[in-house]
Amino acid sequence: MEEYREEKKNLFETVTDKIFKKRLALSPEYIPERLVGREKQTKQVASLLSPALSGDKTNNVFVYGKTGVGKTAVTKYVLLELDKEVKKRGVNVKSVFVNCNQIKTTTKIIKRICNVVSPEIEIPSTGIATSEYYDRLWKILNRFGGILIVVLDEIDKMSEDSILYNLTRARENLDITEGFISIIGISNDLTYKERVDARVISSFGSREFVFPPYDAIQLQKILKDRVQIGFEEGIIDDTVIPLCSALAAQEHGDARKALMLLEYAGEIAAEKDRERVREEDVREAQKRLETDRLIETIKTLPYHQRLVFQAVVKDGRIGTETNDVYIAYTNLCNQKGLSPLTKISISNFISELDMLGLISAKKVYKGRYGQTRKITLNVPIADILAEGLF
Ligand SMILES: Nc1ncnc2c1ncn2[C@@H]1O[C@H](COP(=O)(O)OP(=O)(O)OP(=O)(O)O)[C@@H](O)[C@H]1O
Ligand SMILES: [Mg+2]
Repeated sequence: MEEYREEKKNLFETVTDKIFKKRLALSPEYIPERLVGREKQTKQVASLLSPALSGDKTNNVFVYGKTGVGKTAVTKYVLLELDKEVKKRGVNVKSVFVNCNQIKTTTKIIKRICNVVSPEIEIPSTGIATSEYYDRLWKILNRFGGILIVVLDEIDKMSEDSILYNLTRARENLDITEGFISIIGISNDLTYKERVDARVISSFGSREFVFPPYDAIQLQKILKDRVQIGFEEGIIDDTVIPLCSALAAQEHGDARKALMLLEYAGEIAAEKDRERVREEDVREAQKRLETDRLIETIKTLPYHQRLVFQAVVKDGRIGTETNDVYIAYTNLCNQKGLSPLTKISISNFISELDMLGLISAKKVYKGRYGQTRKITLNVPIADILAEGLF
């Protein structure tokens, strides 16, 4: 019996436990206690929202910056601090955080706002018209009568922008007669504003904050803080943090990438049954992240382009030529009962696959036979097969 118990304990005590102390601290959802190198941006967002504490309207703002530069982290951090202050002062302010990548449609966004402002009121998920959702929203907001701050994170993923117009014009259109609505729109797509209806922009206002990328030193500080919370003590080699930071800084100063590399490196060390995380684990993590990215890219290819990629994989030789790919592609089409696209389209697809980094297509001159392209695959075949993509 004793022996059996001993075995059970070992079953759950994995090497991962010896590496990670609190893995959550490395995940994107974790809100750190300290935001490195974002004092200016934190103050900017806080001063934007501070009029709310005295019952005044706050301005709308667009927050821009590349992926992983702390837009979501800073905004959530300031909202949490605002919330504390609101409770302390007993003022009538509420904030709603919406991730538009998950909550995309107007009706779902309205439902989310209603749920936060008046959780006791049940709003149906389907079966009522959009105008009815708006009516219920206005009723709830008039009853609330305070300052509402709506954060629309990843705003470019929202399915239509009419809600922006309606929320920003609510007071002017007399939809609400009490309180104010302010919006913080966050995006890593710097061209987002250009795609939005001019009427929306004119009522939204032109204020914007742009978050710069992190440099390698800032990334190192971010990682050091997380290592202390996330990893067991003393198991990270000295070179690990500088390497993760340098690799992420090379891309565009992306803190998410740096954290992912660190977490992945820990996982790889555990997978190899080691109790230390080394530089080689980071390099392996970088390779695997790149492969993961390429695999995701393959999944989003249009059908015929995917067949062309499949033709390259099928051929499998190093230095296969455009014509070989075309033949293999035509065979695949025949097997599936499809009519193949023209050679020119396939040639364009090959160039695009090259640009996406899935293959390398090098131009080669064949004397009087003209030119061709020698094609090599950039994704390990084993990973493609393991994903069951074809
Ligand atoms: N200054 C910072 N200090 C500590 N951690 C940070 C800082 N900036 C970002 N992070 C961490 O890096 C990760 C990515 O940051 P965040 O989600 O805020 O990026 P983002 O700018 O919103 O990117 P995206 O445009 O892709 O949504 C998160 O785990 C976050 O906690
Ligand atoms: Mg974000």
